[in-house]
Amino acid sequence: MRDLPPPPAPIALLAELTHRCPLACPYCSNPLELVAREGELDTATWARVFAEAADLGVLQLHLSGGEPAARRDLEALVAAARQAGLYVNLITSGIGLAEARLDALEAAGLDHVQLSLQGVRAGIADRIGGYRGGFARKLELARAITARGLPLTLNAVMHRQNLDDLAETIAFAADLGARRIEVACVQFYGWALANRAALLPTRAQVDAAKRTVAEAVGTYRGRMAIDFVPPDYYADYPKACMGGWGSTGLNVAPDGTVLPCHAAATIPQLSFQRVTEAPLAEIWERGPAFQAFRGHDWMAEPCRSCARREIDHGGCRCQAMALAGDPRATDPVCRLAPHRPMVDAILDALPATDALPDLVYRR
Ligand code: SF4
Ligand code: FES
Repeated sequence: MRDLPPPPAPIALLAELTHRCPLACPYCSNPLELVAREGELDTATWARVFAEAADLGVLQLHLSGGEPAARRDLEALVAAARQAGLYVNLITSGIGLAEARLDALEAAGLDHVQLSLQGVRAGIADRIGGYRGGFARKLELARAITARGLPLTLNAVMHRQNLDDLAETIAFAADLGARRIEVACVQFYGWALANRAALLPTRAQVDAAKRTVAEAVGTYRGRMAIDFVPPDYYADYPKACMGGWGSTGLNVAPDGTVLPCHAAATIPQLSFQRVTEAPLAEIWERGPAFQAFRGHDWMAEPCRSCARREIDHGGCRCQAMALAGDPRATDPVCRLAPHRPMVDAILDALPATDALPDLVYRR
């Protein structure tokens, strides 16, 4: 193994507490092979992981899933994380979180809630989430969160079938009292990759969305922050995925597998360790999956001699795997990448609006 200097401490840990979820979004970031309930870590092990993360220097804990509220011990997990000194953020669909549960989570020390939004009206939201009545329950929960003074971020996942509703979506978040909205266009791994033809927006939609966001940033300045993640297929250069491999954060899957990013398990060349096999610090500092793409030594041309390598770190390894079949390849969305013609061919072949394929729901 290469002898790399010790990495800086990670800032954030994303704990996928469970893959169970009442929704079935066709762009779910969970893997195609889901961990069953019996395979999930127990309360005590998660509490140990949170303490180890804090010792390692992690500041922020994101409790995610699936739907984290599907865990009956969520309140105990929040309390354990708080006890470890972590800032605790809950990423939820809002389903399964009644007001009494929200009270208990707040009492346990929850700092912040991120609520996912599948659409700005019941029709589209419930169709995309694959759960009838979900939108109404989400709305109820959002009001309960802001009524308590808990900081709320709305995670609006945007794609071909709802990007035209962007202005309405931003206004909706502001009316709810959200402090922040993340307008993130779907990135294509796993379930989303299987639904790419139905979800990838058109160039006209993306151009209009950029104008809408620019205007909204001015309109809501001082009231609500707006983060926009455009679909990178339309970009000239790739995103600096994860801020660089193994440099800012780590994910722990429901069964305790420690991953450098949520899609890392799609790279078959990597071998992963579990929190039950080694201390978190050892996995972060010396684990083979984390070492694989740290720094720049692994890069091939054109990244190796490119001035932008300090900016984007060669892009996303999982996207290189998904599109080029090689995790060491330059991210194919890069204009300089040998595989860029693949991305252009995908954009050229987008189906007409009235010929979108059926969605494949996560189950
Ligand atoms: Fe980034 Fe590599 Fe493209 Fe340069 S060649 S811009 S480092 S992805
Ligand atoms: Fe894995 Fe980008 S999602 S490196």
